[in-house]
Amino acid sequence: MDLTQTSDLWWKTAVIYCLDVETFADGNGDGCGDFVGLTQRIDHLNRLGVTCIWLMPFFPSPDRDDGYDIIDFNNVDPRLGTLGDFVEFIRTAHDRGMRVIADLVVNHTSDKHPWFEEARSSRESPKRDWYVWRDEPPPDAEKGVVFPDKEKSLWTRDDKTGQYYLHRFYKHQPDLNVANPQVRDEIAKTMGFWMELGLSGFRVDAVPFLIETTGQDDAAELPEPHDYLADLRAFLTRRNGEAILLGEVNLPYPDTMRFFGSSDGVGDELTMCFDFIGMQRMYLSLARRDAEPLASALQERPEPPRDAHWATFVRNHDELTLDKLSESQRQEVFDAFGPDPDMQLFGRGLRRRVPPMLGGDMQRIRQVYSLLFSLPGTPVLFYGEEIGMGENLEVEGRLAVRTPMQWTSGPDAGFSTADPSSFPGPLVEGDFGPQNVNVEGERRDPDSLLCWMRMLIERYRECPELAWGDYEILDAGHRAVLAHSCRLDGSTILVVHNLCDEPVDATLTLDGATELTELLRDGTVKVGTDGKVQLSLEPYDCRWLRATG
Ligand code: NOJ
Repeated sequence: MDLTQTSDLWWKTAVIYCLDVETFADGNGDGCGDFVGLTQRIDHLNRLGVTCIWLMPFFPSPDRDDGYDIIDFNNVDPRLGTLGDFVEFIRTAHDRGMRVIADLVVNHTSDKHPWFEEARSSRESPKRDWYVWRDEPPPDAEKGVVFPDKEKSLWTRDDKTGQYYLHRFYKHQPDLNVANPQVRDEIAKTMGFWMELGLSGFRVDAVPFLIETTGQDDAAELPEPHDYLADLRAFLTRRNGEAILLGEVNLPYPDTMRFFGSSDGVGDELTMCFDFIGMQRMYLSLARRDAEPLASALQERPEPPRDAHWATFVRNHDELTLDKLSESQRQEVFDAFGPDPDMQLFGRGLRRRVPPMLGGDMQRIRQVYSLLFSLPGTPVLFYGEEIGMGENLEVEGRLAVRTPMQWTSGPDAGFSTADPSSFPGPLVEGDFGPQNVNVEGERRDPDSLLCWMRMLIERYRECPELAWGDYEILDAGHRAVLAHSCRLDGSTILVVHNLCDEPVDATLTLDGATELTELLRDGTVKVGTDGKVQLSLEPYDCRWLRATG
């Protein structure tokens, strides 16, 4: 396939990079990251090969859930800059050929949002129905609490009016009532507002909770919840034909599939869904040094509709959730990558980043990212992954992995000229802190993780087979070896990973090729007349090969 043909459905070959403006770069020297700082640092992302920036919430917020608690959907938090700074940033990103998407957090607002303050003021308030109220909590009010360390119920009594309101997350995040047409209008208006300012779509927070209408009195008036998601998508594409919805849906594959929508097999709801299952199985494979869990996830994973795609990731801003593994599998991953209870969160995940989890073993760390960029799906990076940042377990909860970006080796990490005590949170310390891990140093070092990432991204972008092709898991004759091929228009890429710490000789069968050309190193490999390929793999080897002949 000609590469230019892939650009209409740009998200299928995108490299998405998630960052929080607050912790990325400070431009005005007050210690807090801002849009000016981000704009000054944008060429780092361009050089890396990022094609789409995902901004975590940057809206005015009391910041009790790191900005996921919003008090004004149509503004910029003054700590991070102004709407003008936002527009300058967008313009600069576009100038570098990068698109920008942002978190759409409309399942709930902050309890300090003027809508909620008005709604809770009296049962007769015109905004009362914008949230979800009941006289008594339902019998299963404790079921499905997302943050069990802080909340015991999904319903909290509001003393002034004596009713209970629904909150899927913290009690300071009351759920909006999307069954109310005025609320739906406001949500659309917000999407329209940011698209008008240049966004190319949204990462939609907590989608299953957003569209569910349980407990909402007028739920019957709402069309089928998935129709609402299709409405949102239709609105989005009416305003901007190339805009996307990337949804957070952490459900088993068959349930997640529903969120792509269907209409005539093209997909009319979410453009992309994160592959939470594949991510969790990858960690199980790494822990066991056995390709099977990941291979079977990829085999089970349904094909998304024609224009849709899976979004793949190995780390994000939340805990590394392992909630879809069995208890004993989860324990295996905990034992391997986070045995200390302080590294674990909510009994279901790890609050660590990849390099410390893998004991700083560069071969293994490189391999994780080789998997990310070669397995089918649009790769999504979390800031700092490209240089191998670690976490700071002294910082509370999920914030352990949201420390300031490390630009230089200085005591302020080049994040800001202000004193580090005024930063949004402490820096990482020790082996993975700025002294040892930073952009400036890695740019100059051809053996750095940063240079490895750049090469992976370059190859991934050069090989549309990976994103567009039909993939197949191949038998490599050894349980530690994951091998897959991606075929498109008669062209084939073969990818082989050795997940164990010993050399392995792999034998694969590949039809229709006489020779393979290495893409991550020099060299070629002959294919036998019987289609057999022999590969001597080093410990944790990563091989991408293009078939010829
Ligand atoms: C999911 C986000 O990823 C998480 O960080 C946030 O706390 C909840 N949604 C609530 O918005």
